[in-house]
Amino acid sequence: MNICVVGTGYVGLVAGTGLADFGMNVTCVDNDPEKIEILNNGGVPIYEIGLAELIQRNVRQNRLHFTTDLASAVEKSLVIYVAVGTPSRPDGSVNLEYFDKVGVEIGKAMKDYKVIAIKSTVPVGSAKRLRQIVEENQSEPVEFDIVSNPEFLREGAAVQDFTHPDRVILGSDSKRALAIMKDIYRPLYLLETPIITTNNETAEMIKYASNTMLALRISFINEIANLCDEVGADVYDVARAVGMDKRIGPKFLHPGPGFGGSCLPKDVKALNALANENSYEFKLTRAVIDANERQKNLIVEKAEKFFGTLAGKKVALLGMAFKQNTDDIREAPSLSVIRDLKRAGAVINVFDPIALDSAKREVDGVNFCEDAFSACRDAHLAIVITEWNEFRNLNLSKLKNVMAQANIFDTRDIYNPERLREMGFSYLTIGRGSYRHIAPSFNDITFALPERIKRRINFEVTDISNHVGANN
Ligand SMILES: NC(=O)c1ccc[n+]([C@@H]2O[C@H](COP(=O)([O-])OP(=O)(O)OC[C@H]3O[C@@H](n4cnc5c(N)ncnc54)[C@H](O)[C@@H]3O)[C@@H](O)[C@H]2O)c1
Repeated sequence: MNICVVGTGYVGLVAGTGLADFGMNVTCVDNDPEKIEILNNGGVPIYEIGLAELIQRNVRQNRLHFTTDLASAVEKSLVIYVAVGTPSRPDGSVNLEYFDKVGVEIGKAMKDYKVIAIKSTVPVGSAKRLRQIVEENQSEPVEFDIVSNPEFLREGAAVQDFTHPDRVILGSDSKRALAIMKDIYRPLYLLETPIITTNNETAEMIKYASNTMLALRISFINEIANLCDEVGADVYDVARAVGMDKRIGPKFLHPGPGFGGSCLPKDVKALNALANENSYEFKLTRAVIDANERQKNLIVEKAEKFFGTLAGKKVALLGMAFKQNTDDIREAPSLSVIRDLKRAGAVINVFDPIALDSAKREVDGVNFCEDAFSACRDAHLAIVITEWNEFRNLNLSKLKNVMAQANIFDTRDIYNPERLREMGFSYLTIGRGSYRHIAPSFNDITFALPERIKRRINFEVTDISNHVGANN
């Protein structure tokens, strides 16, 4: 079957390559000639584990092609996937400019029956909207169907997720289109992947409901973490124990600097905007958006509290990507941290193992460094913002030696606090309020704790020393 994928970004390139690997003959289209040139020269414009090899294999087997010529790709394909970006507008609603434009171009190019499969994340009602755009741009009426086929892959594990999805959602009222789409996903039958068929609107809603649920879990555990800091509890023990409840499960209960990336922030805002447009006040989406903003702001607030002022302090930011194993920095917490550090007057060094080039295109006023040690040289504080394995395995004694002061803010909990303390680091964290229990010295650990807790510890310590004294 001939397939065309319009939009060769994180989703389109992975989906196109994955479909070629399923045995389809795929043409990936992008209107960015630079991207297509890179791909036609054997390169890969994004970083995604396993993708380069998969592209090479399918190109070699003549099943995968790249072009800027949408019209001829549409003409020869039975199924056209739409995978262009759908970014947020300033009010949080979805900017469908690229999506609409593709609809116009498909309408103009269409000469016989096509299935248009929407992979882009689009608000409920977009399949209907696309139908109208395509119809208005056909030179003569040609039959077509639209299937809403949202994508759930995670950057950093995109190839594995596309080829081994938890489920495939197909939304359409057309039996013919659904049969064609099921045929495409036939290789997944071997994995017993559930295929949910429903109508377009439901499929569109499933994507937003899924991403908002994930965002909600992250924000929930971040809120618990912040409260743990106040009351002296350890969020990691809390999350582990909560996640053991089979009704809850352990995933997406990792506290951190707030969620980022090109999906969760935009999709929660989009669901909120969709609710507003329909005169429904979605109280949870608003809360998640606010909680996530606060979480991102909290990083520099905590650092400032620790130092008194960050003016003139040298801060090393370890990680720019919104999570590990990607070069994507869209809406990454690192960007808000840099903004806040600049406002606080800090000198900022930055290192990321993969996302440094993406960062150089977006960020100015910071020093880009070639490794973690040069970023930390003479620094007063290192903030770990992305959980790269490279950072987990850093030589911490070497790191300590190059720093002006041995202070680490581990926003991803990748280090063992006890070990760091033994090595002489001061250790800031999110949600390890109970950390005082393993601190070597009472005075060492009181720096970041609220007054209330300090008073309580003070009482406990005094109490214990009296007790020890009495026994002696
Ligand atoms: N990135 C993810 O992890 C992810 C996961 C699931 C769903 N999604 C959704 O998938 C969609 C695409 O996301 P992405 O991250 O791949 O975006 P992206 O920005 O990486 O890629 C979009 C591509 O579309 C191209 N494009 C724009 N207009 C075009 C046109 N008229 N003709 C041809 N190409 C055009 C751009 O040049 C770009 O290469 C979005 O709706 C997103 O919400 C993304």
